[in-house]
Formats: sequence, C-alpha cells, structure tokens
Amino acid sequence: MGFRYYYADRIREMMPEFRGTDEELQSAIDDVSLLYKSAIREVETRLSILSDDFDKKHSYMPIHHVQSRLKTFESLMEKAGRYGIEDPLNNLDTVMREILDIAGIRVVCNYEEDIATMSRLLLSQEDIEMIRVRDYCDKPKESGYRSVHVVIAVPVYLVNKRKMVPVEIQFRSVMMDAWASLEHELRYKNKGELTPDITNYLKTCAETLHKVDEQMSRVRHEVLKNDSKYSDY
Ligand code: GTP
Ligand code: MG
Repeated sequence: MGFRYYYADRIREMMPEFRGTDEELQSAIDDVSLLYKSAIREVETRLSILSDDFDKKHSYMPIHHVQSRLKTFESLMEKAGRYGIEDPLNNLDTVMREILDIAGIRVVCNYEEDIATMSRLLLSQEDIEMIRVRDYCDKPKESGYRSVHVVIAVPVYLVNKRKMVPVEIQFRSVMMDAWASLEHELRYKNKGELTPDITNYLKTCAETLHKVDEQMSRVRHEVLKNDSKYSDY
C-alpha cells in the first residue's frame, strides 16, 4: 500500500493498550498517514506552482529547496504524552486536533525577504486557513534560531469527504537553514546537552549569519537595480 507508513504490529509492541484488533489499529493509523501525506503533497504542489509562476513573471525562483516529513508514530505518541493527552492511541482524534506538526514542510528560500513573499502567496489562497504564525525572524529564539513557522489547514479531498488538514511550514533563508541544521546536528551528537559557552558561541554564529543574510540581500538589490525585469516586486 503506497501510503502505509506506520505499522500496527510495531506500534502494538510499543503500546499494547489499543482496545481494538490489529486490523482496526492498522486501519486507524493508515487513515492518519494517508491524510497527512496527502496534505504534504497538496502543499508541495502549490509551492512548486507558485515558484514556477513567480519565475515566469519575474525570472527568479525564491525557493532554494523544499523538504518534508511525516512525524514518526513514536514521536507523535511521545509528543502527545508531553501535551498531556491521556491514552493517545485510543484517542487519535484528540491527537490530530492538538498536534499541529504531524505534517511538516520546510521551505528554504534564497533570501530572508523571500520568506514574506512565499508565505504571503501561499496564505492568500482562498481555500487555505491560517491556524498560527510564530515569527522567529522577528523575535529569534534564545538559542539564536530564526525561521517563520506557519501552521495552515489545507483541504484534502477523499472519496467521500473533504478534510481540512493542518500542516506546519517552516520558512527559512539558506543561511538560517544552514545554522539550524548544524546546530541541530551538534546538539543531537551531544544528546541535547551543550555547554553554556558553546551555546553562546552558536548564538553569535546565528547573529553573524543574519548579518550575512542582510549583506547578501543588499548585494542582490544592487545587482538588480538596473534590471527592469525585476523592478515590479
Ligand atoms: P513543539 O510543540 O515541541 O513542536 O513546540 P513548538 O511548536 O512551540 O515548537 P517551535 O515553534 O519551537 O518549533 C519546533 C521546531 O522548530 C523544531 O522541531 C525544530 O525543527 C525547530 N527549532 C526550534 N528551535 C530550534 C533551535 O533552537 N534549533 C534548531 N536547530 N531548530 C529549532
Ligand atoms: Mg512545533
């Protein structure tokens, strides 16, 4: 089955408390997987259409690359526990209502200014609902982390119903993404623990990269200034 992503027998080993049969468990989690994978495809397609049309109109592609992931079932259950959802396996509806990053897409843009362009274009689509925005560019996290996190709900058409499915989109510049992926790697290697000195140093690196982001953007505008093709956005 193309959409199967979570396997009931493995989940049963991990969490034996599911009240139905194995077939019922597999069917319930296949529903979750189909829904969120479809939502990811839906948003990826919209982003790629926007990017192509932007390129046609302005001879420029604001998106450097896109990554996506479906949260693993282990991580979903762990987060549900953290969120205080009791007996999450038997309450998948609550899990799906409360946890907004089961479907995750990372849109890595060339420049910081492209983040606003791309998020505005996507959010202006009339069948997309905005659920939440966390602007860590405007207000970086204590670690130095920058990105704009937007949770939207996108319609997914199934055989007999339309479901609005939440997708968390992280919009970043190439610089922000470089920092976040290296910082994540370092933290992961150290089991999440970094000394205060290293943490401070990484924060300084984030600020340095932010300055580079601004400098690159100034260079870009300098280069584009005399090119009328680019003057209309
Ligand atoms: P959760 O409920 O735990 O997801 O919290 P939240 O939704 O408030 O999370 P937040 O908006 O902080 O975003 C979480 C995601 O952002 C993480 O999964 C990472 O991808 C990314 N992120 C947030 N802070 C950092 C950071 O300091 N370093 C890195 N590398 N990534 C971060
Ligand atoms: Mg999150």
